[in-house]
Amino acid sequence: MDERVGPGVVLGVSGGIAAYKACELLRGFTESGHDVRVVPTASALRFVGEATWSALSGNPVTTGVWEDVHEVPHVRIGQRAALVVVAPATADLLARAAHGIADDLLTNTLLTARCPVVFAPAMHTEMWEHPATRENVATLRRRGCVVIEPAVGRLTGVDTGKGRLPDPGEILEVCRRVLARGVAAPDLAGRRVVVSAGGTREPLDPVRFLGNRSSGRQGYALARTAAARGARVTLVAANTALPDPAGVDVVPVGTAVQLREAVLKAAADADAVVMAAAVADFRPSAYAEGKIKKRDGEEPEPLRLVRNPDVLAELSADRARPGQVVVGFAAETDDVLANGRAKLARKRCDLLVVNEVGEQRTFGAEENEAVVLGADGSETPVPHGPKEALADTVWDLVVRRLPGA
Ligand code: CTP
Repeated sequence: MDERVGPGVVLGVSGGIAAYKACELLRGFTESGHDVRVVPTASALRFVGEATWSALSGNPVTTGVWEDVHEVPHVRIGQRAALVVVAPATADLLARAAHGIADDLLTNTLLTARCPVVFAPAMHTEMWEHPATRENVATLRRRGCVVIEPAVGRLTGVDTGKGRLPDPGEILEVCRRVLARGVAAPDLAGRRVVVSAGGTREPLDPVRFLGNRSSGRQGYALARTAAARGARVTLVAANTALPDPAGVDVVPVGTAVQLREAVLKAAADADAVVMAAAVADFRPSAYAEGKIKKRDGEEPEPLRLVRNPDVLAELSADRARPGQVVVGFAAETDDVLANGRAKLARKRCDLLVVNEVGEQRTFGAEENEAVVLGADGSETPVPHGPKEALADTVWDLVVRRLPGA
């Protein structure tokens, strides 16, 4: 029996050095049960040969529209797919896709596909930043394609910058999210969102801090799902140890004051801001330049704390853009709903995700359960499930509140 029962995927590969990373992506798809048709461009085959693609996919591989015409009419491949993903997508491929040029099998497939299309670009920073590429990417996004932002890091040779193909595991995750939603037009396309994640640390001295137990997983799930729904995402990450989600701009921060600065900067042109980070309400009033030492026979100095700025309240009171949607999180141990309602009113945000926390619950867990309260009085329970499911519910509620939605 054929075990590839998952939806059919077309993996387009264009001619960049990162083509070798698409082998891992292909593996990820086939191991999750997808039937994958690899459609490399002629130049992609200069980097990774046909034998590799057909051995890894178990399917024939063609690049032109004139080969195997009797078996693979070129329009069928795109028509039958549940998802087309192009990784790596070169500047040339993006240009051809944006202009509807159909001079090989991959570009023909892109024109005939009626399913969601994901591009994972990889190129040199200069090419990515060139106005021609910027416009092509904007065109593709406007038409509803998901174009994942390239990662920042080492490029071919010794140069570094934005343009790296994101980690194949992360591209796979975006594709999974897109497939799970099954919508051809991503509903956050063209939108900018900011998510804060993790927990702030307030230093006492060079080796000690006041912190909390937030892992950042819920915030990362929000960032990942927003990217899969087409948004440009800035993730302000406080002390997390999780891999960067594909296509997301990650801004690492340490303290509440640093988080405030990064969030307010990114929020200036954002359509929505979700504050999933556990921000310390207080910080030590003084920072000891040298390590605080214990002294025999002496009691320790009492710890004096001062208030940190409340970023969520500030964002809500002073919206950077008209109609910007602001979402907060509340972790409560008792009287969960009543406390949540009071907090929503106090912070004046549009939505508040309330979850019950305890020793074994929520922190660091893969799953979550919550109620999303709306300033309009709505109450949306989210049953126990993956943090991605809660994240998608949050975005559903945000999308409905966006101006022009
Ligand atoms: N938050 C913030 N800035 C702070 C503290 C919290 O932006 N200085 C945000 C969090 O990101 C979260 C929400 O506010 O979205 C949580 O509210 P908060 O008042 O911190 O909750 P608790 O600390 O649980 O409040 P309380 O002490 O009133 O229970």
